[in-house]
Amino acid sequence: MDSPHKPRSFSPNLFFFFLLVSSNLLTFLISNTFKHSSCYLYQQTYNSIDTDSSLNTDIPLVVQPAETRDDDIQASDLDLPSELRAFASPHKLPFGFSTNFDSDSIIPPVGHPCTRFPDLLRRYMSYRVNGSCPDDEILGQKLLLKGCEPLPRRRCRPAAQQEYVEPYPLPESLWTTPSDSSVVWTAYTCKTYECLINRVKSQKSFDDCKDCFDLNGREKKRWLSTKGAGLDFSIDEVLAVKKPGTIRIGLDIGGGVATFAVRMRERNITILTTSMNLNGPFNTFIASRGVIPLYISISQRLPFFDNTLDIVHSMHVLSNWIPSTLLHFLFFDIYRVLRPGGLFWLDHFFCVREQFEQVYAPLIESIGFTKVKWVIGRKLDRGPELNEMYLSALLEKPLKNSW
Ligand SMILES: *[C@@H]1O[C@H](CO)[C@@H](O)[C@H](O)[C@H]1NC(C)=O
Ligand SMILES: *[C@@H]1O[C@H](CO)[C@@H](O)[C@H](O)[C@H]1NC(C)=O
Repeated sequence: MDSPHKPRSFSPNLFFFFLLVSSNLLTFLISNTFKHSSCYLYQQTYNSIDTDSSLNTDIPLVVQPAETRDDDIQASDLDLPSELRAFASPHKLPFGFSTNFDSDSIIPPVGHPCTRFPDLLRRYMSYRVNGSCPDDEILGQKLLLKGCEPLPRRRCRPAAQQEYVEPYPLPESLWTTPSDSSVVWTAYTCKTYECLINRVKSQKSFDDCKDCFDLNGREKKRWLSTKGAGLDFSIDEVLAVKKPGTIRIGLDIGGGVATFAVRMRERNITILTTSMNLNGPFNTFIASRGVIPLYISISQRLPFFDNTLDIVHSMHVLSNWIPSTLLHFLFFDIYRVLRPGGLFWLDHFFCVREQFEQVYAPLIESIGFTKVKWVIGRKLDRGPELNEMYLSALLEKPLKNSW
């Protein structure tokens, strides 16, 4: 216990790591000091991080110095939770060398920052094999948003409802609030859908997508109106850009409660919706509606092959709170997964006007899309003196020579 490698001696390293890895965390915290009215599906996480301080510190941890740290999980990392080592260490293939893997073993993936948060990781990987997992959604999401993405697999059964109520049948499920008994509520302030629907009126504090769970409110009208147009493109006007029926599959990044996917489904188009569960059961709700939630952050490489999707949409989420280098990678990833002729609908991107001219317009224009629509407008909800603006753009990946 009193070895020279006790954790304390490396805390400067850890701290440095923490700064490096989570430079985006800083951005979140800074941007979090503003009150946004929009669906802002990422920032709020760090509120919950600060409030959860019950770290398990009983177990002595030996943390290697940064310089020598190997991001592979090695059998020699005896300080790591045994279930993490059981999962993420190299596993010998039963039939020896495989040309597909170009190896005689498999190393299952976890996000490389995982081991930088040994306390959280130890808690996450502490469970009885073949038993029930802890009811620890907040912990898992916290690790994931710190960069431990993908999370390690676990050999336990996730917390589930005592009396699960099956979803409404389609198409009723698309616009019906599901039963409260379809959700494990532990992680959220609200414990019922009624509370989520009423929180716009009853709750002062900021929440992502605060009014989204009310399917009879603003959700009902999104992307339908064509009058006035401006920044609000309608789905039908966007689809009209392409030959009928050629937009079939796609992705909505940070899509709230997936109303975009629901509207597209009504047009026989399949959309997957990425979302976190920031103080609300977004993934469960999306699934209850009968469309597909993808539980990945905006940092993760999109899990699609090159040149495959017909459309990628994102509203309010891709904006100036994302560090611009990460945004650059993200836009290229969107370009990658779109097929030639595919559409990228950047819906209400926002920033300050000078940033737009100096950083974001050149950045977006540099990716290689063709502009189909490009509308800018002022963003006034926080006051005109802030000089904020929106961009709504419809961009097309060139059909020829997109490489
Ligand atoms: C695993 O758990 C299941 C359900 O509790 C139980 O029926 C089964 O016997 C367990 N298997 C082992 C090998 O312990
Ligand atoms: C969707 O597909 C169904 C079944 O093929 C068809 O009956 C319906 O008209 C289609 N709806 C639209 C909006 O294309």
